[in-house]
Amino acid sequence: MREVAVIGVGMTKFGELWDMSLRDLFVEAALGAMKGAGTDSIDSIYVGNMSGGQFVGQEHLGPLMADHLGLGGVPATRVESACASGGMALRSAYLEVASGMSDLVLASGVEKMNDGADVTGVLATASDQEEEVYYGVTFPGLYAMIARAHMEKYGTTEEDMSWVSVKAHRNGAKNPHAQFRRVMSLEDVLTSSVVAEPLRLLHCSPVTDGGAAMVLCPLDRAHEFTDKPVKILASGAATSSLTLADRADPADLDVVELSGNRAYEMAGVTAEDIDVAEVHDCFAIAEICCYEALGFVEKGFGKDAAREGITDLGGKIPVNVSGGLKSKGHPVGATGIAQAVTIIEQLRGEGGEVQVEGAKIGLAQNMGGSGASSVVHIFQGV
Ligand code: COA
Repeated sequence: MREVAVIGVGMTKFGELWDMSLRDLFVEAALGAMKGAGTDSIDSIYVGNMSGGQFVGQEHLGPLMADHLGLGGVPATRVESACASGGMALRSAYLEVASGMSDLVLASGVEKMNDGADVTGVLATASDQEEEVYYGVTFPGLYAMIARAHMEKYGTTEEDMSWVSVKAHRNGAKNPHAQFRRVMSLEDVLTSSVVAEPLRLLHCSPVTDGGAAMVLCPLDRAHEFTDKPVKILASGAATSSLTLADRADPADLDVVELSGNRAYEMAGVTAEDIDVAEVHDCFAIAEICCYEALGFVEKGFGKDAAREGITDLGGKIPVNVSGGLKSKGHPVGATGIAQAVTIIEQLRGEGGEVQVEGAKIGLAQNMGGSGASSVVHIFQGV
């Protein structure tokens, strides 16, 4: 396999973007990435998207997006793995460059959620229809069950989850792309309305429109395009049961641990080597589970990490410096690419107000469903 680098990144603002369509979001992000890479030539395109068909009635996104980017004729493929669609699109692009098949590949993700009529129902199609949705459960409900299991097993409290949200909003307030740029106090979180007990509004990621993209090329060509390439050290992916009840233990996101271990092994690094990480905090409890599954803290200590500042800027391992899905927003198909964009910026020293000083190795973890798919990428500035 060839070594692969990221040479340009782009993303739209995240939020309720009523004046932009699905294709507009893609094109803005893709042009940003291509401009960053200094190229208008692309050999292949991957588009991460969870549910264009149900949110805006649009399928067949590969050729549609290639055409609107002015690259009709270029092979273009939509990649779907629920909320991990973006991360899986990046993995596909990485594999195509690593294999030697193509040199310049665009990895992108896009979702237009606010135009949809039944967002909660559409999202729920990523859980098991026969064994979960039929009984009326939604994603907030499933993550509420994960939270309850975590509380019972490890003694996690509502306040522990709330510190994760406080951190997210503190970081997101400094991110010009974020949907919610408001600092929230512990009291704000603890008194926000209950969505699915014990999860409150401010423990949940919002409904978001947005797009993100990056251009990949072989590492040995990267300096033709940029003086700040970032190498992809590893791509680790895993799956688990869609049905939460079929998991060995719903309190632990095994799929995250498996994908993380695969990535650590491929990169030849451990959790101790990671300087900055973006993890899939679709609900605050998911971030706590990810701390443990990725080995940032011992199992059972995830609940303490945000409160004690371990995952804060300036802490031992800063997590979700972008504001995470909670504050930056969660346009499901775009999220995995946007997480990686944040890590690339950090490793180039372009993190602005949330720059982690001296960050050399970064990790992005993107998850689908209630933990049925996960993909982890590890990057290094070169
Ligand atoms: N965090 C912070 N504020 C939020 C928010 C969030 N997650 N979601 C909505 N708001 C704000 C809105 O801006 C609005 O504020 P305003 O009154 O000042 O304008 C207010 O809360 C009400 O917004 P509304 O859109 O009516 O909220 P809602 O009750 O319809 O939706 C959730 C709230 C949490 C149910 C919805 O965001 C949701 O379903 N989130 C989860 C998405 C999800 O499951 N993603 C996939 C994960 S696997």
